[in-house]
Amino acid sequence: MQPTPPASAAPPSTPYLDRLLDYVRAQHPRSLPGIEEARAAAPRRFPAMAEMFLEWLVAIRGEEGIPAAVDAFVQFTTDVNMAQARYEAEGEYANKSFADVYAHVYSQTEAMTDYLWGVYLTNFLWAHHTELSIFFEDYFLPRLSGAPELVEIAPGHGQWGVWALKALPEARLRGFDISDASLEIANAVSRAAGVDGRAAYEIRDALDLKQVPATSADGVICCFLLEHLEDPNQLFAVVQHLLKPKGMAFLIGGLTAAHTDHIYEYRRESELILQSEAHGLRVVGSLSLGPKRTLRKAQFLPRSMAMVVQKRTNDIF
Ligand SMILES: C[S@@+](CC[C@H](N)C(=O)[O-])C[C@H]1O[C@@H](n2cnc3c(N)ncnc32)[C@H](O)[C@@H]1O
Repeated sequence: MQPTPPASAAPPSTPYLDRLLDYVRAQHPRSLPGIEEARAAAPRRFPAMAEMFLEWLVAIRGEEGIPAAVDAFVQFTTDVNMAQARYEAEGEYANKSFADVYAHVYSQTEAMTDYLWGVYLTNFLWAHHTELSIFFEDYFLPRLSGAPELVEIAPGHGQWGVWALKALPEARLRGFDISDASLEIANAVSRAAGVDGRAAYEIRDALDLKQVPATSADGVICCFLLEHLEDPNQLFAVVQHLLKPKGMAFLIGGLTAAHTDHIYEYRRESELILQSEAHGLRVVGSLSLGPKRTLRKAQFLPRSMAMVVQKRTNDIF
């Protein structure tokens, strides 16, 4: 990503973002206020960040990929809102079993492809996710400087790890996901960004990663997987296994945020912190945010919490 321009500089040209906004105004005007909130959350950073992600999308799908991805984003957002309303009514997430979610979501390549492009856009078009993306760039990536070996767990579309490879020219990344659709898109995004020579993706369940050599990663990225598992403690153990001593990880989990593939219901930020600490990971930074607009009379505020954690060494508590 380009460095932040000085306040006086002319705004960068953003043809793909302009195209996206035109399409939203014409076809999905009810989605516009949320996108304006995302822009307002980081007025000097949003245009360049959005343009970078859209350039990768257009390199893969052509300019027609923009309206198609916006349609997927609007559908994804609608599905999330409906799942949240049902959760408000029932007090618990609809799905309890990973096997059910695998059968109905992750293994369904066509539906999963739309889902992933929808999620790809949420990482900069939902205002609270825009802020988490900036936290990733400002607070995590600089801590990986000089760290050559990265692992991304559940990359999905691959956006986070590819961004890290762009920022860290010496780094290599191994990515593991259970969905064929994820691997296809992550490979395409890494090619579009020109980092495919340094990225290798493989179908593998995150919970099998203890078979990957221990202490082989300087940095681990794992966004929006914790809440998809029956027992996320196992994932913290995997992160601890993979990291070298003092290695850093960037983790995001959803709290009281329902969706078809969310199983584990975190209610408090402290739960994620305690699970990190129980697995030898010190939380060195965290940011938990929710949308400004929520359902009327909501009892659950859906949040996304990012944590930067560092693997403890045994010499210092
Ligand atoms: C919500 S997407 C997150 C994508 C991306 N990391 C992001 O932050 O936008 C969840 C991803 O987790 C993957 N996944 C779910 N369970 C998994 C597991 N047990 N092991 C590896 N990947 C898994 C899915 O295939 C999907 O790509």
